Amino acid sequence: MQFDIFTLFPEVFKPYLETSILHRAVQNGLLRVELHNIRDWTSDRHHITDDAPYGGGGGMVMKPEPVFAAVEAVLGAPPACPVILLTPQGRLLTQQVVQELSLQPHLALLCGHYEGVDERIRQHLVSDEISIGDYVLTGGELPALVLVDALTRLVPGALGDPDGALDDSHASGLLEYPHYTRPAEFRGWRVPEVLLSGNHAAINRWRRNQALARTFQRRPDMLARFKLNQADRDFLETLSADPNHPSAGEEA
Ligand code: ADE
Repeated sequence: MQFDIFTLFPEVFKPYLETSILHRAVQNGLLRVELHNIRDWTSDRHHITDDAPYGGGGGMVMKPEPVFAAVEAVLGAPPACPVILLTPQGRLLTQQVVQELSLQPHLALLCGHYEGVDERIRQHLVSDEISIGDYVLTGGELPALVLVDALTRLVPGALGDPDGALDDSHASGLLEYPHYTRPAEFRGWRVPEVLLSGNHAAINRWRRNQALARTFQRRPDMLARFKLNQADRDFLETLSADPNHPSAGEEA
């Protein structure tokens, strides 16, 4: 998957792209990220990328000329791939949106800054707008990295385990079950016995029940959309009767 990222702060991206799974994906040729500094496409002596808003008011606005010049120089006019503006006004990023975007082999990400971007960028250059949550950051760089990270996980071969993304919280429609690793006992807290049993059917049922219980307790909105089977319904009935049931399905 290829990204062209247009930003005023390309240096922000490098440490993260040079770490862990993203770094490996770049090295294996599964991920390509080109960083473009919007400031390089200014034509004035001071390399100005922002200006005061028409109509007055606080804050500065990203000027259209360098943004159009940067995107068109790299991607042509019209741009050869979708151009996504990271903005708190965009559609909310969910795993479903990540899956939808993962069908695109090439995306351009435009990182807003200051109060926002000149509206003509929105209207005539950008094809999609994404927000990573209902809060406001100082710029679109972290949201762009969030998007690159979430999309890279779905590139075949990018995760060590080929099925790694299947059980993710949100991918399956349920929150993930709890994980444990060695030691079997730590400070007197034992790993649930069923996980040590070697009984894979029992382990799978326990995990499913834990995922159901977690989702029921923390995200009932997700559970309402999830397609339950009969065993799930039976288990949830015992939970509804006693949501604080300590096991939440600890037995198989
Ligand atoms: N820029 C500033 N805040 C943002 C957010 N929540 N999502 C995407 N881009 C942003």
